[in-house]
Amino acid sequence: MKILLTGGAGFIGSHVAQAYLDQGHEVVVVDDLSTGYAHNVDPRAKLYKIDVRDAQLSEIFASEQPDIVNHHAAQISIPISLKDPCHDADVNVMGFINILECCRKYQVRKVIYISSGGAIYGEAEEYPTTENYRPAPLSVYAINKMCGEQYLQAYRHHYGIDYTVLRYANVYGPRQVPYGEAGVVAIFIEKLLQGLIPTVYAYSDEPEGMIRDYVYVADVVRANVLALTEGNNDCFNIGTCVETTTLQLYNAICWQLGLDVPPHRGEARPGDLRRSMLDCSKAFKVLGWSPIYNLVDGLKQTIIYFKEKGIEK
Ligand SMILES: NC(=O)c1ccc[n+]([C@@H]2O[C@H](COP(=O)([O-])OP(=O)(O)OC[C@H]3O[C@@H](n4cnc5c(N)ncnc54)[C@H](O)[C@@H]3O)[C@@H](O)[C@H]2O)c1
Repeated sequence: MKILLTGGAGFIGSHVAQAYLDQGHEVVVVDDLSTGYAHNVDPRAKLYKIDVRDAQLSEIFASEQPDIVNHHAAQISIPISLKDPCHDADVNVMGFINILECCRKYQVRKVIYISSGGAIYGEAEEYPTTENYRPAPLSVYAINKMCGEQYLQAYRHHYGIDYTVLRYANVYGPRQVPYGEAGVVAIFIEKLLQGLIPTVYAYSDEPEGMIRDYVYVADVVRANVLALTEGNNDCFNIGTCVETTTLQLYNAICWQLGLDVPPHRGEARPGDLRRSMLDCSKAFKVLGWSPIYNLVDGLKQTIIYFKEKGIEK
């Protein structure tokens, strides 16, 4: 299969590209390198440095004729989405419409769309949260991710383009950047390796910090491989259904580094969701997917990587 992968120079997308290539697929990466890096792109893939909003994207689709599009490119920062909502909508909605229009014109069979289970449900009352829970996004980023899901339904209805939505929990691992949804993992590791003391942000009534569902990137990659052939016209939570507070995460990283340093404490930032944890039983039933890595094993791999390569700035 030929797969056009947007955001393939970024943290998660670059791992997905490698897995597709290892399976013998042809991969074309579309990335403007705004937060990604050319050196993340496997040399077996072809890289086009272009913005997903660019009208010239159509020419790439015309010459490459991909069978499947996997859409990882995005403005990924929740704080930036709140500071500059027009930019977030421009990249995450208009950019995605540009992609969908190319899919329609050049008969792409299927789109794999990356959404956020960590953001779109808001402060969910159902916990762990299933895909049936009605999303109640609280950030501009989450609204626009949800909007993309709805465009997929419309393009399926009108033009017959299949899709699979993967709603990621908080993804961490090698090549992670500090500004995404699980950026705290990279920030804690980097600071502790430099001998600095990180800050654990918390609401005053929940001193252990925010509850999150941390999923290791290799597990997320397997969901993208399965989605090539399974789970058409459906959406799936991709997480671990394990809750971890910010303080537990901090302690787990300190333990692996052999450190015993209490963190600085700070007030939760406005907009920080208090808790998020995903029920992923649907991905197991339909895709045959479940996570393999627990937090200890995933952090171990991540720390090995950061010790060797450091964090990208
Ligand atoms: N990291 C997480 O915890 C997490 C959780 C839920 C969803 N996601 C989603 O996963 C996807 C990948 O995120 P990531 O964490 O790997 O971040 P990342 O920043 O490493 O990857 C995003 C990639 O998209 C590229 N990009 C950004 N804007 C672009 C544009 N206008 N045109 C072309 N390319 C553009 C960047 O250069 C980068 O390579 C995103 O859609 C993100 O919203 C991530």
